[in-house]
Amino acid sequence: MAAKVISGVQFSSLPSSYIRPESERPKLSEVADCNNVPVVDLGCQDRSLVVKQIGDACKEYGFFQVINHGVSKEAVDKILEVAHEFFDLPVEEKMKLYSDDPSKTMRLSTSFNVKKETVNNWRDYLRLHCYPLEKYMPEWPSVPPSFKEVVSRYCTEVRQLGFSLQEAISESLGLDKDCLKNILGEQGQHLAMNYYPACPEPELTYGLPAHTDPNALTILLQDLQVAGLHVLKDGKWLAIKPHPDAFVINIGDQLQALSNGKYNSVWHRAVVNADKPRLSVASFLCPCDTAKIIAPEALTSGEERNVYKDFTYAEYYQKFWSGNLDREHCLELFKN
Ligand code: OGA
Ligand code: NI
Repeated sequence: MAAKVISGVQFSSLPSSYIRPESERPKLSEVADCNNVPVVDLGCQDRSLVVKQIGDACKEYGFFQVINHGVSKEAVDKILEVAHEFFDLPVEEKMKLYSDDPSKTMRLSTSFNVKKETVNNWRDYLRLHCYPLEKYMPEWPSVPPSFKEVVSRYCTEVRQLGFSLQEAISESLGLDKDCLKNILGEQGQHLAMNYYPACPEPELTYGLPAHTDPNALTILLQDLQVAGLHVLKDGKWLAIKPHPDAFVINIGDQLQALSNGKYNSVWHRAVVNADKPRLSVASFLCPCDTAKIIAPEALTSGEERNVYKDFTYAEYYQKFWSGNLDREHCLELFKN
């Protein structure tokens, strides 16, 4: 099993540890473009329209894109630039940060969970905890030299976006705007810079296989030049073309649980291609470890019983990382 990064390493063919059995391959030619991804304009003055669009998207798709989202173009451009610079560093430099221990709060790793998985994925990633910044920033990479400044600014801006989305999501469920945020407590924030090198045999493997995100809300910045994100809708995989100036937002498992199953933590995956490396930057808002994840009464009273057991986020997260991605939705393990 590969335990080393793949960015900056030359491959003439796909190493066997990355090859999926035939039935599990991505079947790229069968994947259609999704031409009607909901795009929500957060700059729109009509709040009730924004809330309705978000609610409909969370129900129907579990994901949507946002424009006029308040995160500055400068913060976006700079983080993409610094991420490219980081993955272009020499392998020896990057390997100083390598770890396959998911409990580390800063690590460069590869694939998904190399200690648990049987087939590897064509991805390297740098994963950072980023809230509170003063606590975690000192352990972040100091090369490239602008890394800390650029990433901290991006994280601060994205956090605000995440909160305003959670308020709208809360309202769209008929709850008070602060209701979900209050349940989630003092939220943690993680950032993953994903780098998918050009792959000699993209039909045989994944950048990331199908998964749902275990956290509350994910804000994904996609490479504008290179597509690769697929989302499962009505049993079919759809390709999400990068939209300039937009973030892709997806509901994580915790919001599915808090909505009592009304909203959908969407299955998604990343595929790779033979020509170009692809980069994405995922920001995850995570409930406080001790947050009790239990749907508000307004969503469970009357006819509707609690779909899920109560759990703390720490319990859930432990369960998520104890497995690999080749299994059922982690929330299924917490069903009543
Ligand atoms: C993730 C993820 C998709 C992508 O990091 O959880 O789903 O396009 N990334 O990189
Ligand atoms: Ni994901």
